Amino acid sequence: MEENAARERVAYLRSAVRRHNVHYFRDHTSEISDFEYDRLKAELVDLETRFPAFTASDSPARQVGDDRVDGFASYRHRKPMLSLDNTYNREELFEFEARLQRLLDATDVDFVVEPKIDGVAISLTFENGSLMRAVTRGNGAEGDDITSNALEIASLPRKLRGPNPPAVIEVRGELYMTLEEFARINALRAEQELPLFANPRNLTSGTIKQLGGLGDRRLEVVLYGLGHCEPNVFRTQSEFHETIRLWRFPTVERVWNATGIEEAWERVQALDHLRDSFAYATDGAVIKVDSLALQADAGSTAKAPRWAIAYKFAAEQAETRLRKISVQVGRTGVITPVAELETVFLAGTTVSRATLHNEDEVKRKDIREGDTVVVEKAGEIIPAVVEVVRSERPQNSKPYQFPSLCPACQTELVRLTGEAAWRCPNAACPPQVRRRIEHFASRQAMDIEGLGTAVVNQLVERGLINDITELYRLTAADLLTLDKFGPKSSENLVRAIDSTRELELWRLIHGLGIPQIGAQSAKDLADHFKSLPALTSASEKELVAIDGIGEIVAESIIGFFAQSQNRQIVADLGRAGLKMEEAVSDDPTDSETPLSLSGKTFVITGTLPSMTRDEARGAIEQAGGKVTGSVSKKTSYLLAGESPGSKFRKSESLGVPIIGESELRALLGSDAL
Ligand code: IVH
Repeated sequence: MEENAARERVAYLRSAVRRHNVHYFRDHTSEISDFEYDRLKAELVDLETRFPAFTASDSPARQVGDDRVDGFASYRHRKPMLSLDNTYNREELFEFEARLQRLLDATDVDFVVEPKIDGVAISLTFENGSLMRAVTRGNGAEGDDITSNALEIASLPRKLRGPNPPAVIEVRGELYMTLEEFARINALRAEQELPLFANPRNLTSGTIKQLGGLGDRRLEVVLYGLGHCEPNVFRTQSEFHETIRLWRFPTVERVWNATGIEEAWERVQALDHLRDSFAYATDGAVIKVDSLALQADAGSTAKAPRWAIAYKFAAEQAETRLRKISVQVGRTGVITPVAELETVFLAGTTVSRATLHNEDEVKRKDIREGDTVVVEKAGEIIPAVVEVVRSERPQNSKPYQFPSLCPACQTELVRLTGEAAWRCPNAACPPQVRRRIEHFASRQAMDIEGLGTAVVNQLVERGLINDITELYRLTAADLLTLDKFGPKSSENLVRAIDSTRELELWRLIHGLGIPQIGAQSAKDLADHFKSLPALTSASEKELVAIDGIGEIVAESIIGFFAQSQNRQIVADLGRAGLKMEEAVSDDPTDSETPLSLSGKTFVITGTLPSMTRDEARGAIEQAGGKVTGSVSKKTSYLLAGESPGSKFRKSESLGVPIIGESELRALLGSDAL
């Protein structure tokens, strides 16, 4: 490469690596895979070595990145937290040994081989055996003091359980999230139609830097390294491992000893075979000189020790053809582009679809139908399209045009400011209707056995139901018309639907499919309000006061019940006899239930079966509601009796829910006369 080209390339690589460092260490996201990042960085190091004139002391090739963010106090490590040189290449391991032999003037070097944990680096300081502080790596010299968040981690050792603890010791390790916990959080996100987290490492780094604590996210810790130690009580890295195990610190499952790099390479293979059984993601092996004295002799550069190297396992990738980009309509109308792939075998499973996330992602990678693409799956991660193989692009290919109309109902799509997703705003859009009903019937909501995707699809296609409330009108005779339904299965499904009338309130709240509300939030809401009507009229202030409900969620709840068709659904479910109240506990400390109708406005028309209009008005007002004389869009309910007047038609045309006396009694709940 000639000098001018090299200068330009170095400038490009520095800015790219800096940008990816900010994404990775500060924003807890990654635009490219670790492999792509390592490749950029390796090219930069290579060019800076070949063209020393371009070397600069602030080059990201010589720095460790910086994870510090506002809101945390800084703490200076007693001994810097360095990074590691890494390689994907066996030959470079042998060069590493050759370098050490020259440096240390030794032939046989003893190594320790350890798992390289793909988490977030942490340093724990113990003074006289007690945990004093937990700090992130930061820029290597100074990190963020995250002690208060770290104390929420159950596996974090608070005491060093052994005789004669050193006066001061810094122990280094990695924070991580188990795959189960990662899957649990992503499943909740999927339910709420929120974007999924890409991998446990990004979620770990985002979680430990939350200003309000970890919330309900569980993190773990594993320790493997020695920082400062006063007085120093260790001679080798293996001794350090044995000792912290005796102190009952959480340690790596296994470390291997090896003499010479040939043996170390065999241990790396052994680790590769075992690593799937570890609780944390292991993206490589770290090979370290065992003797601490020799480590000191070898020394470090500004960025990394000369006595250690990371050998990284390549994430599994495969090339395949992208047949088609299709789009899916979610329960709340979110449109997701999906890559339909020619089936490939990858990381132990066959892959034929991969999410493309959103329009911006497709544009950024310029992914087109007919392209050959590289897909990657690192075990836990949802398969992703990493990049397009440009050289294989068919000549006539065209950039992908994101649809402007909903593929299912042809309604014009909308994109809200600040959102990456396009949505279909038509609540009657068939796939949305189907998914809402499916969600209502799902295990985590009303748990209706026998009402899965196939049955819901048929019910909607045949026009038997259009929303969840119509489930309660289905008869065994209706169901007999469906494929594979006999008298017995029809009866069973009717019975299963019937039995949901008595379920706990949180299941109903969850089943409504309010965006952002998963099972846990539904439980919190049910616990607090104890009645669905009370929830429908809750104010933002009241909502955000509940633990676990933030502003965005509160807005979503209010927005949901502001729509008249949703209020109508609640009213219809009440009419169908579903339990709208939680049994009120006898605990006198627990009696803060708000009035069931506060914030609601009613209009009354016609003759009610058993109460006068004045009695109805009194009951509504006593429960915190208001009664007005004329119907408008803001009216919550029209209470209608026999021979109603023009208010009835006006309510119908404005979409104001119409209820009768029995529904009013249901709404009044515990406030009923
Ligand atoms: S030793 C001075 N050992 O990988 C020695 N690091 O890419 C530096 N890591 O900053 C660390 N597992 O956060 C070491 N067994 C292990 C490790 C490990 C994961 C992390 C650590 C380090 C990063 C470098």
